[in-house]
Amino acid sequence: MADTDNLKETKEYFLDIPMKTSQSNVRGANALDWGMQNRLSRIFQPGSGKTVMLAVDHGYFQGPTAGLERIDVTIVPLLRHANALMCTRGVLRSTVPSSLQSGVVLRASGGPSILKELSNEHIAVDMGDAVRLNVAAVAVQVFIGGEFESQSIHNMTRLVDAGLGCGVPVLGVTAVGKDMARDARYFRLACRMCAELGAQFVKTYYVDEGFETVTASCPAPVVMAGGKKLPERDALTMAYRAVQEGAAGVDMGRNIFQSEAPTAMIQAVNKVVHDGMKPEHAYELYQSLRREEVGRHA
Ligand code: R5P
Repeated sequence: MADTDNLKETKEYFLDIPMKTSQSNVRGANALDWGMQNRLSRIFQPGSGKTVMLAVDHGYFQGPTAGLERIDVTIVPLLRHANALMCTRGVLRSTVPSSLQSGVVLRASGGPSILKELSNEHIAVDMGDAVRLNVAAVAVQVFIGGEFESQSIHNMTRLVDAGLGCGVPVLGVTAVGKDMARDARYFRLACRMCAELGAQFVKTYYVDEGFETVTASCPAPVVMAGGKKLPERDALTMAYRAVQEGAAGVDMGRNIFQSEAPTAMIQAVNKVVHDGMKPEHAYELYQSLRREEVGRHA
């Protein structure tokens, strides 16, 4: 039985202080359930409201990508610099330490390999397993204009329904077919469709012209996809521009783990995303951290 002797009488009601209600700094998230907002805060840093996600899910359709042959060796040491890790459940269970503090964005669609039509994906993870893995969100590829456009949208909406039932947000990833124009007009369409159909955040590619119209017309946060490997200075410039033009952060894979110095690169990306560091300064930072990193491994 609880000890009820000498209970202290409450008397400090702070009558002069208005009751605080918390506001999410994630775009469009205020009407979401507490659990879903809490999961989003494991991805989007509460201070800056932005994220540096590290994408290592490439193996789900292209096998052991360069830089990901041994995730335990090359990726695990980077995780302390990532707000969130985007990966498959196979890699999560087999290789990622369960003490991980970053949010996990779990790849939840798949099917075809690079040898087949990539848009022919299906849902590849049950929401119950995502909850069991305590992930912060699930990710699904959406192929607007692709051969299996409707099927991929249906994958997303089914995950959104399942996610709303248990507080798990969905990341809609806009995949672009080989023959499609990668321009702002296309990405406005793709991002807006993802958000309208329920994705709580969207991952899309940067375009030099009009990216700010892509972010402005999407009611959910837009995270910039990394894409093919660029020279470090160019990748930092792209990340800087994307954030200045309204992105809520980045989800970069090859531009981090295929860098000559991945730890240096992810730290420089963090400065660009969270502190608004200019790309020329971030590149200088990368260079000085690179010298240390390469020296350590020499
Ligand atoms: C599918 O297209 C996935 O989202 C990728 O496997 C991955 O996230 C791409 O990352 P990056 O293009 O930055 O290497």
